[in-house]
Amino acid sequence: MKYYITTAIDYINGKPHIGHSYEKVASDVLARLARLSGKQTFFLTGTDEHGAKIAEYAKAQGLEPQAFADQTYKYFEDAWKNLDLSFDRFVRTTDPDHLATVADILKKIKENGYLYEAEYSGLYCTGHEAFLTEKDLVNGLCPEHQTKPELITEKNWFFKVSNFTDQIKEKIEKGEFKIWPEAHRKEVLSLLAQGFNDIAISRPNVKWGIPLPWDENQTVYVWVDALINYISGVGYHSDKELFKKYWPADWHIVGKDIIKFHCIIWPALLLAAGIEMPKGVVAHGYLTANERKISKSIGNVIDPNDWVLKYGSDAVRYFLMREIAFGQDGDVSEEKIKARYDGDLANGLGNLVSRLTNMIEKYSHGEIPEIVEPHDSLEDVLGMVESFRFHEALARIWEAIAWANQYIDETKPWDLAKDPANKEKLDEVLSVLGAQVKLVGLSLSPFMPQTAEKIRRVFESDAISKIEPLFPRVE
Ligand code: ME8
Ligand code: MG
Repeated sequence: MKYYITTAIDYINGKPHIGHSYEKVASDVLARLARLSGKQTFFLTGTDEHGAKIAEYAKAQGLEPQAFADQTYKYFEDAWKNLDLSFDRFVRTTDPDHLATVADILKKIKENGYLYEAEYSGLYCTGHEAFLTEKDLVNGLCPEHQTKPELITEKNWFFKVSNFTDQIKEKIEKGEFKIWPEAHRKEVLSLLAQGFNDIAISRPNVKWGIPLPWDENQTVYVWVDALINYISGVGYHSDKELFKKYWPADWHIVGKDIIKFHCIIWPALLLAAGIEMPKGVVAHGYLTANERKISKSIGNVIDPNDWVLKYGSDAVRYFLMREIAFGQDGDVSEEKIKARYDGDLANGLGNLVSRLTNMIEKYSHGEIPEIVEPHDSLEDVLGMVESFRFHEALARIWEAIAWANQYIDETKPWDLAKDPANKEKLDEVLSVLGAQVKLVGLSLSPFMPQTAEKIRRVFESDAISKIEPLFPRVE
């Protein structure tokens, strides 16, 4: 079995923030789980580097766009390494094999007869890298970016999205193209029912982009360029075997703001090029700070690296997956991560592992009595993760942790250890606890790989001794 999962590729006009991190961590949890389940897995992430927006930011810094991109993409790759993301490739839209793939796909779509030239007038929002309509605006401004879109009149190449909408609709209805959660599936079906306009796929006045293979005076529209990363990143041009093995993608994980691009435009582009559609799109909600979407344009960003330095990558991963119900919006803050760290991690899991290893060292010569069955089976956790209910999965694992801590309080191994007559009971208690903690570690490994590894090592050692706190106090 194979499993191919992707994230959105971030614009590089700023540093990665916690909202971008959220999507990447969720995708990593799924990728790690797939690998643990024995699936051959490919996990793709990367950066979106072309277009008017990036060119503007580069100019503001007095840099050529390519030089700017070479500097800024690194912030993303480094941040994702700091968060322990297990991506198989980090694709940049300036990578040579991506450029070649885009040219190839555009040529195919043109040869297949789905492009035409037309003059177009519209309101372009550079923040969105998309044309907006009058009804999208509030007081004449783009409500998200608080900027006035530019009225542009230009001659573009247009793509006949409308030729494919029936086919896409049918695939959605048959469940062959999945959209999660259900509310977004309905939203896409209703967009399709309204009739979807053709879109411009080239820009004559944007220099920073991939030239159209047949018209050097135009560059490929940045969204079309970006979407194609999902095939270039898995070898469409550079490694045909790899591509054959992994395409179509099992899931594209993206934010709810870019559903239309992923559920309508992307499938249409693929169909027009004669390539299979992806199997599904998952849309997550927004991370907010004081109930406002965290974003570069609003300026209320939280740098994931700061939290990783302070709390450790596993704690940040845990916090993001536990705090917010996937698919919904959720508020985050320093106070909230601190509360989860002190409560769930230090006092919950950390305390349990310290107590258990300490007791095995003291009352059992560092040897764990033969491991029996754990108290919980945690059988339901797998299904929860596979259906994107990450917070429920973690809540379930934390019930097992709470049970173990309470079991220690009730059975009082320190009292049992006072009288050799209680040896059998003491062995049983430590053994059940050992099994329980081992299982907790295993269940946690897609979420908290470093912690899981530390727990695994406890049970591999010949003589177990009290381990260093997993989650030391943070000031
Ligand atoms: O849209 N909470 O890039 P981007 C949760 N380059 N997710 C958030 C978020 C928040 N506060 N802010 C952003 C783009 N995101 C395109 C994608 S894919 C072919 C091209 C998510 O940098 C956002 O929803 O604006 C998106 O999924 C991702 O971060 C990148 O956003
Ligand atoms: Mg955005």
